[in-house]
Amino acid sequence: MHVGSIIDGQELKGGNRTTQEVRNPYNGEVVGKIDYVTDGDLDRAIATAERVFHETMRHIPAYQRSAILRKAADLLEARTEEFARTLVVEAGKPIRDARGEVSRAVQVIRFASDEAKTLGGELVPMDAAVGGENRIGMVRHYPVGVVAAITPFNFPLNLVLHKLAPAFAAGNTVVLKPADKTPLSSIALARLFEEAGLPKGALNVVLGRGSKIGEPLVTDPRVAKVSFTGSVPIGLQIRKWAGLKKMTLELGSNSPNLIFDDADLDTAIAGLVRGAFAFSGQACISVQRIYVQSSVYNDFLIKYVKQVKQLHIGDPMLETTDIGPMISEDEAKRAETWVKEAELEGAAVMTGGRRNGTVMEPTVLANVKSNMKVVCQEVFAPIVSVIPFDTEEEAVRMANDSDFGLQAGVFTNNINRALRLADQLVTGGVWINEISTYRQDNHPYGGVKLSGIGKEGVKYAIQDMMESKFIGIKIL
Ligand code: SIN
Repeated sequence: MHVGSIIDGQELKGGNRTTQEVRNPYNGEVVGKIDYVTDGDLDRAIATAERVFHETMRHIPAYQRSAILRKAADLLEARTEEFARTLVVEAGKPIRDARGEVSRAVQVIRFASDEAKTLGGELVPMDAAVGGENRIGMVRHYPVGVVAAITPFNFPLNLVLHKLAPAFAAGNTVVLKPADKTPLSSIALARLFEEAGLPKGALNVVLGRGSKIGEPLVTDPRVAKVSFTGSVPIGLQIRKWAGLKKMTLELGSNSPNLIFDDADLDTAIAGLVRGAFAFSGQACISVQRIYVQSSVYNDFLIKYVKQVKQLHIGDPMLETTDIGPMISEDEAKRAETWVKEAELEGAAVMTGGRRNGTVMEPTVLANVKSNMKVVCQEVFAPIVSVIPFDTEEEAVRMANDSDFGLQAGVFTNNINRALRLADQLVTGGVWINEISTYRQDNHPYGGVKLSGIGKEGVKYAIQDMMESKFIGIKIL
């Protein structure tokens, strides 16, 4: 498959454009080729998005936007296997997880289709102020215009749709820059939206290196809103570039999960295995730090390690595979190095720790210290640390001792404690009796501290992609 950027419905290939191979991270096979945009192409993409917004998209009524989205969801659902296999070969995501991602993506579009029909406004009680008699005030919501969407490799379909579907529900147009390593699903998605009836040029996909495209895209005055999911350093850079534009930044985390001695340990363990190692831990809310109350620590650790050892490592295309490759050998080497560094500083590797090419073994560490990289930085790899605590206060203090704050998990059967922790954990979301990695696509999602600003979760993303306007009437 040799593809190019899609701008104004046309695929741009050849000429003086650079061609880049897309490789399967598991076996290095070339699975596609892409042509990068030139500076002129990027300018045309933004100009198209602006023109189509003013001429077409902002005039499409809600019921039609909703119908386009509904059709796109139906088309995607019918092509689940095709999209899932694309995710396997471009990202190395195990096939069962890839199917799960497509199914979530279908739901995201359906949520957006439903929300498109609810974007009314509100009345302001004008007579609440002296002099407000005989005045009517209303707030109406308008699409912002051109949205720049910059997306990561780890959920090449669903995190793209968390930006596209709300943008179209609101009546915006988009310039999408997908991750360099996983562009194929985005191109297929652009074709799918076209088939669903989205106006030509409402979605423009630009392929290229982030370092080349990021600055001109984000700083362009025709772009009204920037929505980025990715790393903290790039997020901070984008924030500087974007100035006063509306902005959503979904960045990293080192998610804490707290296990109390009154919890259902078996349920917690099963979830925490899945939540730490699904897609080799390459999710912002992946379980990274597990704090376990001392009285059940040893029991927990033995059972946890036993289950982790049962995970199947292998070809992500096989139905039996739990753990496939990481996105690149460099990333796998980094993960291996962090484990070695921790080991040298006294950590105990309970299982895993080794790497074979792009595949990093699922790794469980004990005896870690809070200043080790595997604990205090975002590991984004199949590595988890299990740490004992004695009291609730100590658990909260250690969980909050982080530069990040995206989602946390708490396992306890004590309702009072659960509610206390929900208040005290400094994160954008807290799950009780569920892992931090669990995300349902309609709940607000977004972090505090270095984890970012703004919220996704379809309804909340739409709110951030609209501008509210006050309209007042004086009755004469
Ligand atoms: C992320 O890695 O930020 C998204 C995780 C998810 O949507 O499950």
